[in-house]
Amino acid sequence: MTMSSLKYTTYLPKSIFSISPGKRSLSNTSASKQFRSILQKQIDDIKSAGTYKNERIITSSQSTAISVKGSKGSILNFCANNYLGLSNNQEIIQFSKEMMESYGCGLSSVRFICGTQDIHKTLENKISQFHGREDTILYASCFDANAGIFEAILTPDDAVFSDELNHASIIDGIRLCKAKKSRYQHRNMDDLEQQLKASDGRIKMIVTDGVFSMDGNVAPLTDICKLADKYNALVFVDECHATGFFGESGRGTEEFHGLLGRIDIINSTLGKALGGASGGYTTGPKQLIDLLRQKSRPYLFSNSLPPAVVGTGIKVIDMLLSSSQLTRKVQSNTKRFRTTMTKAGFTIAGMDHPISPVMLYDAKLASDFADEMLKRGIYVIGFSYPVVPKDKARIRVQISAAHTEDEIDQCTDAFIQVGKQLGVI
Ligand SMILES: Cc1ncc(COP(=O)(O)O)c(C=O)c1O
Repeated sequence: MTMSSLKYTTYLPKSIFSISPGKRSLSNTSASKQFRSILQKQIDDIKSAGTYKNERIITSSQSTAISVKGSKGSILNFCANNYLGLSNNQEIIQFSKEMMESYGCGLSSVRFICGTQDIHKTLENKISQFHGREDTILYASCFDANAGIFEAILTPDDAVFSDELNHASIIDGIRLCKAKKSRYQHRNMDDLEQQLKASDGRIKMIVTDGVFSMDGNVAPLTDICKLADKYNALVFVDECHATGFFGESGRGTEEFHGLLGRIDIINSTLGKALGGASGGYTTGPKQLIDLLRQKSRPYLFSNSLPPAVVGTGIKVIDMLLSSSQLTRKVQSNTKRFRTTMTKAGFTIAGMDHPISPVMLYDAKLASDFADEMLKRGIYVIGFSYPVVPKDKARIRVQISAAHTEDEIDQCTDAFIQVGKQLGVI
């Protein structure tokens, strides 16, 4: 059945389809009017605070060169989490298509009813192999993996210690659990130690992002692990901005710190470096994964990952298991960008990570700078308060393995031109 024949066999009155989407309204009760005005007030407040987020519309696949609605020609993209450049890799697309042909669009079921296919088990096993862990559980996203873990395993007898700048999904996940909760100052080991010392938790769990996405800086895992040993605590790391490309062979923050295999629990995403489709996972001890399959609510009560997405994950992990070439490429591109920019007089935050925040400190300057970059065909985004602290406005550049050296140079040339024009360097 085609879309147009579908449209005319529906039981809704045809008139509804003739109203343009922005003007459609199915309810005009007084409750609905009051509801709209409450929401509109909040939207107006966000706009007057200058923090309303407009979404640019991309009309091509995700890539280093993209087409954006309203802009002519192609634009060089420096703001995606497409670290390995695999979001539109033809080999992966072909494999995903084959998975969809063989296994269908989706499972119409959660995993434990009739939503587990052999390919879900294959992907979980490959992820375990990649990280060198006992077992892995897939989720629809890493947001779900973070939302579903703490509540499932921690009780009021337990204690959780979370870096204050951890990702929103960790904050929400911890809120849902009944353990005693402490937040330690960002990467501050003295503060963490004080809190560990004062705790009588049965399970103590230190929770940190491996790499913090606004700053491109890295959790001090060596020191965290020392404290974990001293106070008999577990270490949980969110590796969304590390898996596949950070550390010598892309095994993430624990590899970067020379601690391969040391971290107790790793959560990560398939939605960034690993093909950029969607999906998340927890990898770690067998008993943990077993228990999560029994108790973790986003896993138990949400549809299983569709075959095309599973196919993307399988193919990407296969590629990473057989070669570290892309990992090395994103690392050398990052070095090239950071070195040229630093020599030109810019301050780049973070530590050797493809997230390369160009510090401008002033919110308006960051926004004007990003607009000027777009005029030169470079797509970057300015971040300011409340996404980052006041007076720490910046442009967050993200480097990909798919950028050519020439594209990196086009980007740094544009930064230097605009930097001079706006008096930054
Ligand atoms: C550190 C961190 N954790 C978790 C997530 C959520 O990942 P996903 O997009 O798979 O839900 C993100 C994504 O922005 C992230 O940056």
